[in-house]
Amino acid sequence: MSQEKLTQIISLCKRRGFIFAGSEIYGGLSSVWDYGPLGVRLKKRIKDIWWKEYVEKRSDIVGLDSSIIMRDQVFMASGHLQGFTDSLVDCPNCKKRFRVDKLENVKGNIYSCLDCKQEIDIEKNKPRKFNLMLKTNMSATEDDPNYAYLRPETAQGIFVNFANVLNTTSKKLPLGIAQIGKAFRNEVTTGSFVFRMKEFEQMEIEYFVSPEEAKKFYEYWVEERYNFYIKRIGLKKENLKLREHTGDELAHYAKACTDIEFKFPFGWSELEGIANRGDFDLSEHARVSKKELSYFDSASGKRFVPYVIEPSAGVDRTFFACLSDAFCSEEVKGKTRIVLKLKPDLAPYSAAVFPLLKNKPEVVKLAKSIFCDIKDELPALYADTAGIGKLYRRQDEIGTPFCITVDVESLNDGKVTIRDRDSMEQERVDTTKVKEFLKQRIKFY
Ligand code: GAP
Repeated sequence: MSQEKLTQIISLCKRRGFIFAGSEIYGGLSSVWDYGPLGVRLKKRIKDIWWKEYVEKRSDIVGLDSSIIMRDQVFMASGHLQGFTDSLVDCPNCKKRFRVDKLENVKGNIYSCLDCKQEIDIEKNKPRKFNLMLKTNMSATEDDPNYAYLRPETAQGIFVNFANVLNTTSKKLPLGIAQIGKAFRNEVTTGSFVFRMKEFEQMEIEYFVSPEEAKKFYEYWVEERYNFYIKRIGLKKENLKLREHTGDELAHYAKACTDIEFKFPFGWSELEGIANRGDFDLSEHARVSKKELSYFDSASGKRFVPYVIEPSAGVDRTFFACLSDAFCSEEVKGKTRIVLKLKPDLAPYSAAVFPLLKNKPEVVKLAKSIFCDIKDELPALYADTAGIGKLYRRQDEIGTPFCITVDVESLNDGKVTIRDRDSMEQERVDTTKVKEFLKQRIKFY
């Protein structure tokens, strides 16, 4: 099923306008993807829900939107220039390049090529370190370059603004700074759709706490974020699990890390990581910038460098998880029906309105007036470009929870047919009650 499901999801994304290959008319760009009209709607809903939960609804977390391009000193201090590397090896047979940690170990130093299955002896084919940072030149001339970097995680923008936020908000610890934004990595592993991209989006919180409270908040955030995916995003519990990192897996800055894994079409993989970064980042930035980045706790009279608990989620992986979790291919009356059973408030559109007879002006007029009334409050679309069967199939494929059909009978009895996406059951509802009907069933978070 897995490869077949992945192929079906990619095909649906392209066919319906969720995701396109980057620079597609020029042959595409490896591991770079563009979000189409439906994709941006779903992606924005994911980000809005996260932002509402952690910034709007809480007084211990504030928002930030820091720049993508940052000075090289930032990444010297953070350790990314030295330590943010993948170990790569070339297959002597097919010449393809792979991350050593992704190869299957046969025994000892011998690994198996992911593509041609040739044995790769790591002793003979020495792996090389490859830095994942993307570099850019800020100078007007090539002869006198002034290099800067595209951030590989939004987190560094938060650390360098820690003192600014503290001074301007007069907040006390525990204090979280949340940010949604792009991050860039020159990934070499390709072919996993939006799971591993060179340009992607993160939703990160750096939660600053006293060293004594770090363990308690680390445990709190693991549980909080796991529940978020079930309650707010609607992912199935059986598709999620927690996995704690072993010592040798930990990133250079982390004291502990737990991944929330999702069962993607190609298997269990990381959806989000929750790390205890200790005081690594603030201490290193204080050392390199020579600025004061400690915190004075007036209650205890102590000054200390805060520890940081970091729930770091990927927008694109959450998007992919939503599609994979919601994707269904079912047999209905001998035909295959593809349906995205998305949580209704995540769906790109809440409702679609169709006139059954597009040549009958009174039917069209009524359908358009219902559509206009709904779209003031809910994302809705109007469609009349195909027969009713095709229109239903299209809406099933993009996850629209309700379809509303206006027919000739509607002109007499003042009622329309509302069809439920998942059960395909239909009921007649008074035209004046359609919006209420939808609002009761789609609870926007
Ligand atoms: N600040 C910590 C950090 O960046 P990470 O585990 O490297 O930690 C956090 O990344 C999350 O960002 C991942 O769990 C994943 O959801 C997302 N992510 C990381 N690299 C990605 C990539 N190349 N493509 C898409 N999403 C990625």
